Amino acid sequence: MRMLSVSETDLQTAASALVAGKLVALPTETVYGLGANAYDPVALARVFEAKCRPTFDPLIVHIADLATLDKIADFSLLASAAASFAHALAARLWPGPLTLILPKKAIIPDLATSGLPTVAVRFPAHPVALWLIALSTGAVAAPSANPFGYISPTDAQHVADTLGDRIDFIVDGGPCEVGVESTVLDLTSPVPTILRPGGMPRECIEAVIGPVSVLTSKPDSESGPVSAAAVSPGLLTSHYAPRAPLELFPYGSLPRERVAEPGIALLFFDGQSRDRFFRGFEGPPESLVSAGRQLEQPISKVLSEEGNPVEAAARLFKILHELDGLKVTGILAERVPAGGLGDAINDRLFKARSAAR
Ligand code: TXA
Ligand code: MG
Repeated sequence: MRMLSVSETDLQTAASALVAGKLVALPTETVYGLGANAYDPVALARVFEAKCRPTFDPLIVHIADLATLDKIADFSLLASAAASFAHALAARLWPGPLTLILPKKAIIPDLATSGLPTVAVRFPAHPVALWLIALSTGAVAAPSANPFGYISPTDAQHVADTLGDRIDFIVDGGPCEVGVESTVLDLTSPVPTILRPGGMPRECIEAVIGPVSVLTSKPDSESGPVSAAAVSPGLLTSHYAPRAPLELFPYGSLPRERVAEPGIALLFFDGQSRDRFFRGFEGPPESLVSAGRQLEQPISKVLSEEGNPVEAAARLFKILHELDGLKVTGILAERVPAGGLGDAINDRLFKARSAAR
């Protein structure tokens, strides 16, 4: 693997590699993607191989202009209301963290869509991604650039650490601004349906096309995998998991008695919640004394000191990567307030739970 910069020469190198069927990890505004020429079945096969991704889990095709949308999506197979939704969303919310599921044209190999008659299309809002797509073939298939089931990468080093020996190039465009993957919206169902909450809040989609339904992996239940996985295989509940087992609790309810466990880490939404938690230990804390010795303070992380969901989303995967690097033995995390990007954060925390594995 060679790390590339965003210089013109390096971007040319990366674009030529894509044309030649090689694998290039590239920055997008959400997470780093593992890019391959979307029209080249052999390159696509290499993506599945590098990620150890099952071939029943389809890829997102990234475009850099609307002409390509018509080239790969078959609007004649779409109900007219859905077609106008697609055009309105493309006009208002692209480029951005929104992926649309649309009927596919034959030019997209079946491997990209895992044999489904639909294709996932996204127009990313990152200048480097747009350059690379436009300079190469105009359509770049890119799943998140992580081994299947592991946390998505939000900087180039995350990619190098986990996939470095299996891919050709990484283009280092710095940290990703949004930090969680795109929202996946199915426009082929009778009612537009969010298959994966993500960087584009539901409220912004509804402001353009009216009410949508949401297929969730039931963040409020303990029921484990649900049928959502069959509709969009990426909704498998064991996604985005750090190596350390993660347990999820309601906001403000991390269990105080568990801090004595060696190597345990605490993950709070905001500084207020963390302060409330530790205030319980003022004075010589009984529960921090075990077998006659004072335990160290547990490792604690806060997604956003101020409780800003945008910042929390941007930092979520980075913090999970850090905790894995610290080799913690377990992570106790709290849910964040619902709505906006909070829904995407809670979805990823839910999927990272060890109980679902
Ligand atoms: O933000 C993102 O979306 C990132 C960046 C790199 O663009 N990409 C990403 O790709 O998250 P990936 O492969 O990790 O997730 C794609 C999701 C999966 O849940 C997959 O099952 C779903 O999109 N998907 C792809 N094609 C589909 C289709 N035709 N029908 C239903 N779901 C589909
Ligand atoms: Mg992924």
